[in-house]
Amino acid sequence: MKKNQLLFIQDFPKPQDLGEERVLIYDQVLIKKSLSFKKWQSQFDKKYAVTAGESLKAVEHFPKHISKIIDLCQNTSSRKLTLVVVGGGSVGDFGGFVASILKRGVGLMHIPSTWLSALDSAHGGKTALNVGKAKNQIGTFYPAGKTILVKSLLMSQPESRAFEGFGELLKIAWLQGGTLWKDLSSEKEVDGNMLWRYLPRAIDGKLKIVAQDPEEKSGLRHILNFGHTVGHILESYHQLPHGIAINYGMDFALKWSLERKIMSPAEFEKIQSTAIAVYLLSPVRDELFSAKAPVLKDFRQLLLSDKKKTSSTKVRFVFLKSPGKPVIQEVSVDDILVEICRQFEEDTYE
Ligand SMILES: NC(=O)c1ccc[n+]([C@@H]2O[C@H](COP(=O)([O-])OP(=O)(O)OC[C@H]3O[C@@H](n4cnc5c(N)ncnc54)[C@H](O)[C@@H]3O)[C@@H](O)[C@H]2O)c1
Ligand SMILES: [Zn+2]
Repeated sequence: MKKNQLLFIQDFPKPQDLGEERVLIYDQVLIKKSLSFKKWQSQFDKKYAVTAGESLKAVEHFPKHISKIIDLCQNTSSRKLTLVVVGGGSVGDFGGFVASILKRGVGLMHIPSTWLSALDSAHGGKTALNVGKAKNQIGTFYPAGKTILVKSLLMSQPESRAFEGFGELLKIAWLQGGTLWKDLSSEKEVDGNMLWRYLPRAIDGKLKIVAQDPEEKSGLRHILNFGHTVGHILESYHQLPHGIAINYGMDFALKWSLERKIMSPAEFEKIQSTAIAVYLLSPVRDELFSAKAPVLKDFRQLLLSDKKKTSSTKVRFVFLKSPGKPVIQEVSVDDILVEICRQFEEDTYE
């Protein structure tokens, strides 16, 4: 796998330092959200603005996008071309995919603009498009040559967004354990400055896991799915932001780890009693769980369409024994549904 260079800087880099021939692909929202981005992007001659979100990743829309990008790249040398992709995870997944297939692969640079992408999706090389309602069905492994973390861009997000990114940080801290979890567990507040401070260690943690299994062949990378099996169905069903859904998914996985006696009650208590654990559950949780009972038939369908199943109805579920000790066990889709009901009843009658 190519070595991904990481750069942490306060403000945007000079465009001329980003490669000989560059095309900017960016989330158009950023023009309104960040004055410094607005000024910076005006220095690029070749640029392509997109509307972020799942429809950007829809395979049906891809031919239209790629034709326009190819037009834009006319008269550029494919050997020298770098796509500079600025945006959140959807723009990163789309732009990364484009870079991986355009002229059989051109240079790729990520400048993530959401906490979620800065902590997670801009690292590890996965690109993706959606087919119909099924997410990430098409994709490539194509790590960026360089990923630049720009503090002023990340801080341009509404403060509430920090909560979404926090889940991915917590995920890495729980998978890694050690001092990362120790330091994080004693934090009192989640905000942009706190995430920025932890960014280098969280990215390093993710990249260490990815390096053991860059293309998901040995199964070691699978632990990064902690919280994601149930997180993804909540994300699709309730149309939740990814980070929020993953927080619920991790909460679910912790409770199931306790129920299956993988995690001891003492360990569970220790985690729950940290100040930072309250951030796992967002204010919308009550609404989500009390408004209507989980529609199990739809959940079942969503679980069955999850491409990470080992056989038609089996899933490799990531549990946690304690911070630093993830445990993978094969469960059936029905086991997950039974546990959803158990946790739902527990919440309702608490
Ligand atoms: N490739 C991977 O490894 C990987 C990992 C996790 C998630 N993902 C993907 O990432 C996507 C979710 O990530 P996301 O939430 O970053 O996606 P996103 O690109 O959809 O961004 C979410 C919203 O934030 C807005 N936004 C972006 N930057 C902003 C800023 N600085 N200020 C204000 N608003 C801003 C966007 O316009 C959009 O409305 C999903 O498509 C998911 O499948 C990919
Ligand atoms: Zn995630």
